[in-house]
Amino acid sequence: MEPAKEAPREASKKDRAAAPNLKRLRQMVETIMQGGGPGRIQAQRAKGKFTARERINYLLDEGSFQETDQLVSTRCADFGLKEKDPPGDGVVTGFGNIAGREVCVFAQDFTVLGGSLGHAHAMKICKVMDLALANRVPVVGLLDSGGARIQEGVNSLDGYGDIFYRNTKCSGVIPQISVILGPCAGGAVYSPALTDFIFMVQGISHMFVTGPDVVKAATGEDVSFDQLGGCEAHASKSGVCHFVAQSEPDCFRQIRELLSFLPQNRWEKPPREANPDPIRRTIPLLEKMCEMDPRKPYRIHHVIWQIADEHKFFEVHTDFAKNIVVGFMRMGGESVGVVANNPAHFAGALDINSADKAARFIRCLNAFNIPIVTLTDVPGFWPGVTQEHGGIIRHGAKLLFAYSEATVPKIAVVIRKAYGGAYIAMSSKKLGSDFNYSSPSAEIAVMGPAGAIEILYSRELAAAKTDADRAALRAKLAAEYAAKFASPYQTASTGSIDEVIEPGQLRYKIIRALRLLRDKRAPGSHENRGNIPL
Ligand code: HXC
Repeated sequence: MEPAKEAPREASKKDRAAAPNLKRLRQMVETIMQGGGPGRIQAQRAKGKFTARERINYLLDEGSFQETDQLVSTRCADFGLKEKDPPGDGVVTGFGNIAGREVCVFAQDFTVLGGSLGHAHAMKICKVMDLALANRVPVVGLLDSGGARIQEGVNSLDGYGDIFYRNTKCSGVIPQISVILGPCAGGAVYSPALTDFIFMVQGISHMFVTGPDVVKAATGEDVSFDQLGGCEAHASKSGVCHFVAQSEPDCFRQIRELLSFLPQNRWEKPPREANPDPIRRTIPLLEKMCEMDPRKPYRIHHVIWQIADEHKFFEVHTDFAKNIVVGFMRMGGESVGVVANNPAHFAGALDINSADKAARFIRCLNAFNIPIVTLTDVPGFWPGVTQEHGGIIRHGAKLLFAYSEATVPKIAVVIRKAYGGAYIAMSSKKLGSDFNYSSPSAEIAVMGPAGAIEILYSRELAAAKTDADRAALRAKLAAEYAAKFASPYQTASTGSIDEVIEPGQLRYKIIRALRLLRDKRAPGSHENRGNIPL
């Protein structure tokens, strides 16, 4: 009995011995799978980081990864690189599935020469980007790299040039997602900056053009790794990072969720999902808001959660320029991008950062055929020397440009206030919006009553005999002005508001408009629309 049991194992050993070609391949693959070796993998784990291959497995549907260019090796003979023969030249590339949809992926391997980018490494990334572009599928880059590989000189720099060029050619054609999963320096940060969305993970992700030591040498500033290029710096201050995850698994879950809102490419529409939430669900909260003090701050998220299918909102750029809120939701099962003033910060006024944030998001939505829902509650542009000298004119113009340029369905609702240039900027009718609704309590005017009467009646106010007379006159004039202009009715009478709606019906109104606009065709809607970083 015993020998019979052993027989199959013996046979397979013999097969292997008789199959030197297979053996050779398997040995080569096994070596490559080791990456930088057990020591460096251990060091990677000690920093709380996964390896490049573990990351790909977490990101993609189980068992779906198909590797490309596994056997590519460096051609650089300097600094003993050829003898080191860095496995896969420090990057794993290929394709696989996310929720059953095809994606291309690359993951830099920090255990191999710090994930630094040499010529072959760059060529592998370029090849997988070309594959993504030719086959019209998203590309996800998992970055963990010390930047240009110093040993390979200008070949490394040129490698970055090749990647930046492709990032730009892919822009607005296929979704590009960058995930920062380690210390990314130099060229390793500019490629992500050209892509549509950047993810970082608390504690392990850092991005900077030059590190703390160079900063100290050049400017004398003392700054830590985290202060200079950690999640907080880029999510809330620089605005470079769109999403912060608490851990790598959380990050991969968020990427999968983001992709569920996006189409595979600019020719497709985002996937539609079954919607269990009644489209005629009414919103009592909005009826209450309609009667509230117009100066009272509130978080616009409460409105977004109410109108979204199942109250779900996937926010983008949560911690940057909080006076405007952008993100994805579904309405009646359709993927929709929302852009909303947030009165909880700066009273919802527009400033430089909020204009940049919204304009880029709108351009991304337009590139990928995602309808835009705009919720307006804006007292105007934020005044001040810092804003003027910082270029609010230039930055605010990006918002005007983005809305005017967008050919996707555009639906806007004035929730409470829409004053001056900010009224125009927030997807007003004249910027080509398809449907403009308003709450009955909305105030739409060139400026608020207080400012307007100081300009219109400056002489009368100056002529008042006493302060009490002046105050009484002010109150009377402000009330008259408010009665005439602080309402949506003048705007509705011109057709710039299509309908003053029952606020409780807002969800249904938007979904009905979206359904009419589903096959909207507008001049220019078939043109390429690059998503330039703004
Ligand atoms: C070659 C590199 C490298 C690089 C890291 N390594 N960066 N090798 N070229 N750019 C190697 C290290 O020598 C080391 O090899 C291994 O990777 C791990 O690096 P450590 O320094 O030990 O790790 P850590 O302490 O975690 O620090 C990581 C780091 C640091 C912050 C990324 O290595 C660093 O500062 N690297 C240089 C970053 C930089 O200035 N890059 C800019 C390049 S210029 P061993 O064998 O010891 O394990 C650039 C310009 C492009 O990118 C411009 C395009 C527009």
